[in-house]
Amino acid sequence: MALRMSIAAMSVLAVAAVLVVAGTAAAAASCPATPPDAGATLQVSHAFGPCSPLGAESAAPSWAGFLAEQAARDASRLLLSYADSSLQAALSQDTLAVAGDVVKAYTFGCLQRATGTAAPPQGLLGLGRGPLSFLSQTKDMYGATFSYCLPSFKSLNFSGTLRLGRNGQPRRIKTTPLLANPHRSSLYYVNMTGIRVGKKVVSVPASALAFDPATGAGTVLDSGTMFTRLVAPVYLALRDEVRRRVGAAAAVSSLGGFDTCYNTTVAWPPVTLLFDGMQVTLPEENVVIHTTYGTTSCLAMAAAPDGVNTVLNVIASMQQQNHRVLFDVPNGRVGFARESCTAA
Ligand SMILES: *[C@@H]1O[C@H](CO)[C@@H](O)[C@H](O)[C@H]1NC(C)=O
Ligand SMILES: *[C@@H]1O[C@H](CO)[C@@H](O)[C@H](O)[C@H]1NC(C)=O
Ligand SMILES: *[C@@H]1O[C@H](CO)[C@@H](O)[C@H](O)[C@H]1NC(C)=O
Repeated sequence: MALRMSIAAMSVLAVAAVLVVAGTAAAAASCPATPPDAGATLQVSHAFGPCSPLGAESAAPSWAGFLAEQAARDASRLLLSYADSSLQAALSQDTLAVAGDVVKAYTFGCLQRATGTAAPPQGLLGLGRGPLSFLSQTKDMYGATFSYCLPSFKSLNFSGTLRLGRNGQPRRIKTTPLLANPHRSSLYYVNMTGIRVGKKVVSVPASALAFDPATGAGTVLDSGTMFTRLVAPVYLALRDEVRRRVGAAAAVSSLGGFDTCYNTTVAWPPVTLLFDGMQVTLPEENVVIHTTYGTTSCLAMAAAPDGVNTVLNVIASMQQQNHRVLFDVPNGRVGFARESCTAA
């Protein structure tokens, strides 16, 4: 059996995921516990960290339901174990074809049974820095360098791009140093030093943004999480300033885990993420989520969930969409540039 990976078949690129399920739906469906043409199979129960459980797709969820479900998924995504999920997975090995490239003896996780939060049935590509990730296994080929542009989460087709290897990457791009945490080695930590709303840098305690490998505190970039989560003091400061800028004339309401929503058209201020050596000003499409029906719109961020990730700021896919995000591991840097990659 040969696995053929097509970017178009993936709806989520999980940068933080370590255990990998890659393949087209057809390949995944026949993914065997014991591959006939490959080596031994190892039974694992999420010993390698995050791995998204597959679940039944819920029928036509409401918008608020969708947001609530996504928030629950986001909350559990980065945890090193799934408290409320049970997973049964096998490690398989096979030849993986990526466009014209061939990866021999590629090791990937094959989920056999999973309960808990839903994951895309197409699987997850592990672009983290852990030893089992796609990136680590193809280091000789792609030099641990890649970039992606995620399309709008509303786009029906995955129209974004994933570029593997050093060739074709943007040469002139704003970058910030990549930080490594030996305790959470698959995550892409960066040094976020502040947040600006409009022209005002919101006031947050330095400790809320500081990188601390011992506690896991700091900021990571993660495409497997949908909405940015900020540690409570940072989120509250940002939210309060956004509310102040929008003005008291509009009534604030909550919806599906978001606490700063308006049911009328309001003027949202731009939000700028300040990193060591790099500023990223997010336009409204990266800051605000609009309901499909009606006029309600919400600040598409939330406070970090309780648990091990309470101290972690996660810059998620909604905030990255329509940007080229470059992960240059050998040179220890991450780059950001606007790029429109959502096809109509
Ligand atoms: C999505 O892409 C597929 C394959 O490129 C195409 O056949 C299909 O029509 C597209 N669907 C939409 C809604 O654009
Ligand atoms: C908007 O929210 C306010 C306050 O909750 C409410 O009084 C008003 O009826 C709502 N308007 C619409 C159009 O839903
Ligand atoms: C993060 O950036 C700030 C400001 O440039 C600097 O003082 C601090 O040492 C940096 N932290 C790390 C872990 O690089």
